[in-house]
Amino acid sequence: MQTVQDAAALRAVIRGWRSQGQTVGFVPTMGNLHAGHHSLIKLARARTDRVVASVFVNPTQFGPNEDFDRYPRTLVQDQAGLADQQCDLVFAPDVATMYPFGPAGSVSLHVPEVTDTLEGAHRPGHFDGVATVVCKLFNLVQPDVAVFGQKDYQQLKVIERMVRDLALPVKVMGAPTLRADDGLALSSRNQYLSPAERELAPQIYATLQQMRELVGKGHAVKVVEQAAASKLARTGFEPDYAVIRRAEDLSEPAEGEREGLVALIAARLGSTRLIDNLPFD
Ligand code: PAJ
Repeated sequence: MQTVQDAAALRAVIRGWRSQGQTVGFVPTMGNLHAGHHSLIKLARARTDRVVASVFVNPTQFGPNEDFDRYPRTLVQDQAGLADQQCDLVFAPDVATMYPFGPAGSVSLHVPEVTDTLEGAHRPGHFDGVATVVCKLFNLVQPDVAVFGQKDYQQLKVIERMVRDLALPVKVMGAPTLRADDGLALSSRNQYLSPAERELAPQIYATLQQMRELVGKGHAVKVVEQAAASKLARTGFEPDYAVIRRAEDLSEPAEGEREGLVALIAARLGSTRLIDNLPFD
């Protein structure tokens, strides 16, 4: 497995593969990889001849008070894990490669509507940064297939919409969320949790499952959402939202609508903000 830092080296390797008629899969990441990321590599492996992973902590998707500086950078471990997964190439650019005019002076993409709500509302500008960097990465790698986790459900919807609206020639695939045995979705941010917080954290998934169950039994969506938020607050979380939305575009379901829904939660536990979701069917 090779690691390249600059765009010319990346393009040279990929050109070689293309000249042999090989297809290319791509998994963008910010590094500090865990089994959840590895499962995306595995999925790409099964679909394409070659797999590229990028490791880049993207400054434009972090707010001024977010954890950009303390985001763990662990490239050497990440490389070992990616090699184990039979990833072919790691693209680990620096900020100047991705933002030749500086992050503040670069073109920025805005994907409307699907970013107005939930994470988009709580993290202004976050999805502009995600869409911008993913579009740039797609232009550099030019993959046939790109794999994203359903763990970041809204992010997946933003990328799907961007790809369709800009007619980008890449097939976007969503991969199931990998969880610890107790249900907690694997996340790089879990390592910030104290032992006591780590014990509480699986309540997020338990709450998502209860939301699904209650809606299945015919309870009103609004009532289920309120019960979920107050239960989380009682348990020691500070919930940003606990909602049920249309899986397709995250819009609010009509009264009595029961098909194609997803429950989504974002909640703070101490200083760590956790997100998770559960599609209902
Ligand atoms: P990062 O948080 O590193 O996540 C990279 C990919 O791994 C995303 O598609 C994410 O949804 C997926 N992922 C994370 N935890 C997962 C889990 N438990 N199970 C399955 N997949 C999981 O998401 C980003 O980076 C960035 O926003 C990025 C798309 C790279 C743009 O900078």
